[in-house]
Amino acid sequence: KQYKLGMIGLGTMGRNLLLNMADKGFSVTGYDKDHKMITKLEEEGKEHHLKGFANIENFISSLQTPRTLILLVPAGPIVDNVIAELKPLLSKGDIIIDSGNSHFTDTNRRVDELEKEGLHFFGMGISGGEEGARFGPSMMPGGDKQAYNVVKEVFDAVAAKVSSDPCVTYIGPGASGHFVKMVHNGIEYAIMELIAEVYGVLKNGLGYSNDDIYKVFKKWNEGRLQSFLLEITAEIFVFKDTETQNDLLDQIKDEARSKGTGKWTSEVSMELQLPIPTINEAVSNRDLSKFKKLRVSLEEAFGKKENQIDVSIDDLENAFYFSMISAYAQGMHLLVQASKEYQYDLQLQEIAKIWRGGCIIRAKFLEDIYQAYDKNNSLEHLFGDAGIQQIIKTTLSGTRKTISACINAGIGIPAFASTLTYFDTITTARMPSNLIQAQRDFFGAHTFERIDKDGVFHADWNKLS
Ligand code: 6PG
Repeated sequence: KQYKLGMIGLGTMGRNLLLNMADKGFSVTGYDKDHKMITKLEEEGKEHHLKGFANIENFISSLQTPRTLILLVPAGPIVDNVIAELKPLLSKGDIIIDSGNSHFTDTNRRVDELEKEGLHFFGMGISGGEEGARFGPSMMPGGDKQAYNVVKEVFDAVAAKVSSDPCVTYIGPGASGHFVKMVHNGIEYAIMELIAEVYGVLKNGLGYSNDDIYKVFKKWNEGRLQSFLLEITAEIFVFKDTETQNDLLDQIKDEARSKGTGKWTSEVSMELQLPIPTINEAVSNRDLSKFKKLRVSLEEAFGKKENQIDVSIDDLENAFYFSMISAYAQGMHLLVQASKEYQYDLQLQEIAKIWRGGCIIRAKFLEDIYQAYDKNNSLEHLFGDAGIQQIIKTTLSGTRKTISACINAGIGIPAFASTLTYFDTITTARMPSNLIQAQRDFFGAHTFERIDKDGVFHADWNKLS
């Protein structure tokens, strides 16, 4: 038995992660039904003499026990099919690590099913795309702690590093790894939407060319907004279409797609009754973008808007920084709630720490989030940290100027607008929600609580008039 670890699914992600492991000196192998993928693996991994299998029995019997298997196959029924194929070939104590973007409820089910067979099932979120897998991703493994210790050295070695700290940590039991990756993606959707809205403001509100926008993003990325998403976005603005030599961005349809992780984050937030409006707007706006024909016809009906506004780039930068902080804060808040609800015992400071490198939402600001939770790991909301409060206070004036100017000019900025109004609500001691309680009691005798005495009350509202 030669190999320490086997990869199932040798698409780009699987191959790259395997090559990364081989670079770090681990003896690894891979399996794929498709011979072409094996040829690719063996070519790319020539210097490490990497070998792949198209026969699953031979593959399994080449692994040291307890066997460690990583699945990098598309989420959904394929994961169940692979598990069914594997089950008869495995022995008690073997570890299966599903590294796709599986829904955490599927992971819960699989953990339970496989536990009965004496097998350890791990849900591990991996972020960083193809580059990340090859040279250092951020990894979010959740499952049985003892089994984790078997693979820890491999994960520590292949993960991205931030000042020599690996961007991987044991997340928690059950499906917590996939849950945390899902919320990572929710934040990813929010930041992408905010950047897209900034693009709309710069282009339509301020009349900036793609080259001008490149310069703005490039400059911002040198400061406190430094992040992977802003960095790649700047590059998009100067990328030319090889055929026409025009800016490729201008040739792309304005209809955004998604695979579902953002929607799942919103669904769970509703389930847990924990509001994440910036993420929700990001999900909704991808959906709204798909109604192209309707948008075209309604623009005709209502007339094209004069979008010119008068805001400074500094004010816009403040609005973006404020909203970015809020998007992370909402995601972290959801993690705090889920940790209680599902008994994940999440260590928020560890999660912020492993998101500082390798993943799609890596950003300079994650260092501030890490520091805030490191100081107080039972912090309920990021807005409760004194350092974050100081930052937010300095951004508010620019944020309000930018957002009100956009609203007056008719520029659609759903994520920005809802972020600010979320902030204004969550920082209000007395909301108008007493009225909701009165209305509910009026028409449905749903009762209400009072501020001046304990207990549950009902009023005979009809008599009042
Ligand atoms: C990552 C990404 C990656 C992928 C998602 C989102 O962290 O590396 O989140 O997992 O980009 O699948 O894709 P959609 O935008 O298609 O939902």
